[in-house]
Amino acid sequence: LLSADNGTVDHPNGTAQQLPRIIIIGVRKGGTRALIEMLSLHSSVAAAQNEVHFFDWESHFQKGLPWYRSQMPFAYPNQITVEKTPAYFTSAKVPKRIHQMNPDVKLLLILRDPTERVLSDYTQVFYNRLQKHKRYQPIESVLVKDGEVNLGYKALNRSLYYMHMQNWLRYFPLESIHIVDGDQLIRDPLPEMKKVERFLRVEPQINASNFYFNKTKGFYCLREDGRERCLHDSKGRAHPRVPPAILQKLDQFFHQPNQKFFELVGRTFNWK
Ligand code: A3P
Repeated sequence: LLSADNGTVDHPNGTAQQLPRIIIIGVRKGGTRALIEMLSLHSSVAAAQNEVHFFDWESHFQKGLPWYRSQMPFAYPNQITVEKTPAYFTSAKVPKRIHQMNPDVKLLLILRDPTERVLSDYTQVFYNRLQKHKRYQPIESVLVKDGEVNLGYKALNRSLYYMHMQNWLRYFPLESIHIVDGDQLIRDPLPEMKKVERFLRVEPQINASNFYFNKTKGFYCLREDGRERCLHDSKGRAHPRVPPAILQKLDQFFHQPNQKFFELVGRTFNWK
């Protein structure tokens, strides 16, 4: 059955593809996969499997909203669709585009200690290159240039949260953006997920039995209908060892930007 307004196919069992009303906008390496998987535990949530990159990739954006909708999972009428594309947070053109689609969309942003996020970002690129049999510079030479923090390293910019947040606040009120503490989500996911449920105004459903700590992985894994699963091996990788003096430089580098971010969002985080 073709529905009249959007040209998508309604499934006979009553499900249909819907535009997302919740978007996880980032940050890259903040714990976005963990967040969307944990959110999927909720029966009112239907989550897109892949990162859609609709609002940040021109070739996708030009295909328009019907295409975007066609990337979404089949959902029951009582379900809310969510997608996550971590690159949205740091892409300046995205806030306006999402606002144009739906000014009432609920945005989830998961952040982590900015220095830690940089190391995670480096690790991700390192492994991507390794897979392609390419080398990557050692972390010290990426982070530091001529004895100073290397401002040319893109991953540093992605951890300047206040800069990106300013772009979002031009289009969305703070109340539309819920910030998940990514460091807390690693340590103890349940309280963070309860806050997410409240923000989304969905019935409280996610509970302690949905999580168990897996010693081998060193992270919490999920339990749903008796089935247990951990995130992929690429989530929760060891980071390279960095000399303490360089870590300190990074922490210093982020100190001011962090303060600006705290002011912007009226909330502090336990970052170094
Ligand atoms: P590391 O692999 O650097 O530790 P993203 O999904 O946005 O790419 O974020 C990946 C990060 O999610 C991982 O970074 C990891 O620290 C974090 N994470 C949070 N909860 C996790 C969990 N339960 N299992 C695995 N990784 C988790």
